[in-house]
Amino acid sequence: MSAVAQEVTPQEITTTPLVEIRNARMEFPGVLALDGVSFDLRPGECHALVGENGAGKSTLAKCIIGENTLTSGELFVGGQRVPKHYDVRDSQALGIAVVHQEFQLMEEMTALENIYVGNYSKRGPFIDRRAQRARAAELLTYLGVDIHLDVPVKYLRTAEKQLVQLARALSQEALVIILDELTAVLPENDIENIFRIVELLKRDGKGIIYISHRLDEIFSVCDRYTVLMDGRHIRTGDVTELTKPKLVELIAGRELSQVYPTLNPPDDDVVLQVEGLTSDAFFDVDLEVRRGEVVGIAGLVGAGKSELLLAIFGDYKVKKGTIRVNGEAVSMTSPRKAIQHGLGLIPDERKRLGLNSALDVRKNATLPSMRKFKKWGVFMDDEAELRKSYDTLESLQLRYSNLWQPTTKLSGGNQQKIVIGKWLIADTEIFLMDEPTRGIDVGAKSEIYRLIAALTAEGKSVILVSPEIEELLGLSHRIYVLYEGRIRDSFEGDRLNQSEVMTSLLGAER
Ligand SMILES: Nc1ncnc2c1ncn2[C@@H]1O[C@H](COP(=O)(O)OP(=O)(O)OP(=O)(O)O)[C@@H](O)[C@H]1O
Ligand SMILES: [Mg+2]
Repeated sequence: MSAVAQEVTPQEITTTPLVEIRNARMEFPGVLALDGVSFDLRPGECHALVGENGAGKSTLAKCIIGENTLTSGELFVGGQRVPKHYDVRDSQALGIAVVHQEFQLMEEMTALENIYVGNYSKRGPFIDRRAQRARAAELLTYLGVDIHLDVPVKYLRTAEKQLVQLARALSQEALVIILDELTAVLPENDIENIFRIVELLKRDGKGIIYISHRLDEIFSVCDRYTVLMDGRHIRTGDVTELTKPKLVELIAGRELSQVYPTLNPPDDDVVLQVEGLTSDAFFDVDLEVRRGEVVGIAGLVGAGKSELLLAIFGDYKVKKGTIRVNGEAVSMTSPRKAIQHGLGLIPDERKRLGLNSALDVRKNATLPSMRKFKKWGVFMDDEAELRKSYDTLESLQLRYSNLWQPTTKLSGGNQQKIVIGKWLIADTEIFLMDEPTRGIDVGAKSEIYRLIAALTAEGKSVILVSPEIEELLGLSHRIYVLYEGRIRDSFEGDRLNQSEVMTSLLGAER
C-alpha cells in the first residue's frame, strides 16, 4: 500500500461528525436554556448527554432536529452547515430522528400507521402499503420484538410503544438517533433489549445521542459523555475514563455520598389494609401498610402495579374486595373520596394524569387542597395559597421562572416535582407513588429519597412502585412482588435482597 493511501484510512474519512454544534445559545423568554454549548457526534458512537433537570438536554436535542431554532451558534450535519430556516422536515431529510421523552404516538392509530405517519414511502402517486407493512415487520424483527402491527397503540405496553417510536425513527433511514429518556419507564429486562439495539445501531455506523438520568446505563452503552449544567457545557470525555461518583459530581456540581437514607422502623398499627381486591388487571390482592412504612411493589410491566395503585386511589374499576383506612372499611369509588381519606397518587404518566396543562404551576400545586385556602370557607386566600406553593416547590428545588407559568414549559423532571409537591401541600397521609423518580436527576432523586424518609419519620406511609429493583430495595421496609396480577411473595428483613426479589419477579420456580 502506498504512503498516501495509508494516510486516508476509512476510519479517518468517517470521523467527520454526523452532527456538530458550535457555541450554541438558545433563549426562551426569561430562560437561557443553552449558553455557549459545543457538542459533536461521531459515526458509530453512543454519546451520553447528561445533566440535572432543566440543564438543557432536551433543548439541545430539539435544536439538532430543528424543533427549536438556535438564538446563535452553528449547527453542522454531516459536515455541512444547515440552512437558515432549518426545521424538522430538513432534519428528517438529513437522517436525524428523535424518540422523545414524552410519548408522541397517536394513541388511536395502529402501530403500522404510527410508524409511517408523516413519512410516506411512495410508489408513484400511491402509497405502497404492502411494501410499508413488509418493511415495518422487518424493522420490528431487527429490533427483536413481536408487536401486532394492526392494533391501536393505546393497547400496547409502554416498552412496546417505545419500540414503535424507535421503529419509526429507523423507517426514516435515520443516521442519527436521539433517545431522550427512552428507558425512563422501562424495567430492567426491556432496557437490556434497548442496549442490544443500541449496539446494533452502533455497528451499522449510526450515531446515538443518549439522554438518561439512569447513570448505570451510561457505563453500559455509551462511548463518550457530555455534561450540561444550567445550559452550560461542563465537560465532554470518554466514558472509560469516568467513574460513577465522578459523573455524579459533574452532574450535581457537588459530591453526593450516601444515596439511600436510613428509614425508621414503622409503627405496628396498620393504616391501610387491602383484602381480596380484584379487577380485570389484578386478582385477590391482600396487602397491608403500617404507619411510617414504605411498602415497595415490584413486578414486570403489565403485572398490574399501576392499576393496583389506581384502584386503591378510587380510579380503577374494582370487582370485589375491601379497602380499610385506619381499620375502617371505605368505599373508594372516586379519587375525591380517596383524597378525603388522606390518600395521594403520584401517577406514572405525569403528562396524562399528574398535571393539568391548562393550569399554571401554582394552581397545579394546590389543586387537591383548594379547601385549605378558603377564608371563612368562601374566599380564596391567595396569599396563603401562594406562600404554601412557593415554600413547597422551593423545598423541592423546582427550577422554574414563576408560579404563573404553564407547567408544559418546564423540563420533564421539574414537572414531576410539581406532582409530588401538590400531595405534600394536601397533607397526604398515605402516598401512592408510581415511579416517582422517573426522569428525575441524581441530585433531585436523593432529595426525593430523603423526602420519603422524612415523610415516614413523621408517620406518613408510602406505597412505592418502581421499575428499579435497587431503588425498591434501598427504600422499602417490605416488598410485595406482583406477578401477572397476583401477589406472589412478600419480602422483608433478611429476605429483602436483589436475588430473592428478582427470582420471584421473573416468575422463576424456586
Ligand atoms: N418551550 C419552552 N418555553 C420556555 N422555557 C422552556 C421551554 N422548553 C424548555 N424550557 C426551559 O429551558 C430549560 C431547559 O429545559 P430542558 O427541557 O432542555 O431540560 P432537560 O435537561 O431536558 O431536563 P429534564 O432532565 O428535566 O428533562 C428549563 O429551564 C426549561 O424550563
Ligand atoms: Mg428533558
